[in-house]
Amino acid sequence: MKLKTPFSIFNNPKRDIDRLNKVTYVPTPKKQSKLREEDLNNHLTRYMHKQTGDNKIICRYLGELHTEARHEHSGYSIKTDAPRDHAGKGESFSPTDLLATALGTCFLTVMGITAKEKGWKLGEVTIEVDKTMNKEGPRKIEALSLQIKLPPGLSDEQIKDLQEATRDCPVLRNLKDSMKINTNWRNVKMRNKTFLKFLPTNIFRETPQVTFFDAGVKGSNGSDVVIHHGNAISPPNENDCEQFYVHQHQIDHNLVLDGSRTFTLLNPAWNEPHHIIFLTKRMGALQIPMGTYHRSVSGPQGSMVLNQAVRDRQFDPTTEFIPVSLRNRADLRQAKEAEPILWVYEEGQIRRLKIDNLSIVSKGITT
Ligand SMILES: [Fe+2]
Repeated sequence: MKLKTPFSIFNNPKRDIDRLNKVTYVPTPKKQSKLREEDLNNHLTRYMHKQTGDNKIICRYLGELHTEARHEHSGYSIKTDAPRDHAGKGESFSPTDLLATALGTCFLTVMGITAKEKGWKLGEVTIEVDKTMNKEGPRKIEALSLQIKLPPGLSDEQIKDLQEATRDCPVLRNLKDSMKINTNWRNVKMRNKTFLKFLPTNIFRETPQVTFFDAGVKGSNGSDVVIHHGNAISPPNENDCEQFYVHQHQIDHNLVLDGSRTFTLLNPAWNEPHHIIFLTKRMGALQIPMGTYHRSVSGPQGSMVLNQAVRDRQFDPTTEFIPVSLRNRADLRQAKEAEPILWVYEEGQIRRLKIDNLSIVSKGITT
């Protein structure tokens, strides 16, 4: 922690040295004349710590390889034991565990400071610190591995801010040249870019009376048709709670044959986890990747949708169409709380609308 000094050390070093001397330091005239700015800064830091007591820890031996460390300012204490591979029973943190803990907690602290400064809530972050002691030579920590698990719902920018903050962690600065330090951001790898596709239909002939088109999807090995007679929902709600389908062995390609259908898609692993698609025939077949939760609703006129699915070898109809209720899934409820990306057909194009606060960002995608 960089402490604020009570006066500048650079504007008038001689004056500041004199002022400091009155408080904490009485050098000989010879020493004073040679006092460098760096020395002065160290003295100032010591002085500030003395005033606040923030950095004093009283360590006490309790016997049987147990110790107690008390943080003087707060009164909090922690106890240690020697580890089992070094004469102890491992009944608490070992001293080297505390070093590993310092890195994990410092990461969390700088992440918390960053979120606070930027005005957003960090949520629950966990860091699993794995310590490896060396096998040869004088005993010391050889490596620390940190598995960092972020809560879902953070934007790419927020994750980048957190990663930058940890690279500037004070404990890391002290440790990185003396041991291997590996960090693995677990949820970040899973957070993929949104992957939604609309497969265009090949219209052979269209007149006011007849529409003739190729509805096929390359590789499709299963078809189903879902007709909504009026205002219907697939899958239906369960006691007023929304339900979703999700496939593990099937990719859907939903093509509206008649009317229009509103699809809601949730995928917690996407950087944009919530999508609402106002699907019409002109948009082609909506491809829904495996692992994406989806439901669809029709207006009073109803609709007819053809699904040209691509199924893998593990596809099993008895397990593939079991609705999942939001009631039991906090991650899906959180995904649904994200601002949705809206997909509409407008002026001959599929448009992707992002509601960013009060402005709407529109991006046209030609089919
Ligand atoms: Fe489906």
